[in-house]
Amino acid sequence: VVRAEGGSGGEPINPAIRKAEDKVVDSVVIDQLSKPLTPYCRCWRSATFPLCDGSHVKHNKATGDNVGPLLLKK
Ligand code: FES
Repeated sequence: VVRAEGGSGGEPINPAIRKAEDKVVDSVVIDQLSKPLTPYCRCWRSATFPLCDGSHVKHNKATGDNVGPLLLKK
């Protein structure tokens, strides 16, 4: 198990997403994007993971963090 180091004292950054998997990896071929802009979650709080649902706003307000999504553009 890889644990993130940093301001959270070494706590895992992923609280619940697909924990049965050794590594969570998602990929997309850019030509297959259905929308001109697709935001991918990097905070692990999204209910629609791997897509961002805006949950990072609540996380940032609660923790003082500044994480945001990865934006894939067509
Ligand atoms: Fe995780 Fe937006 S919900 S980056």
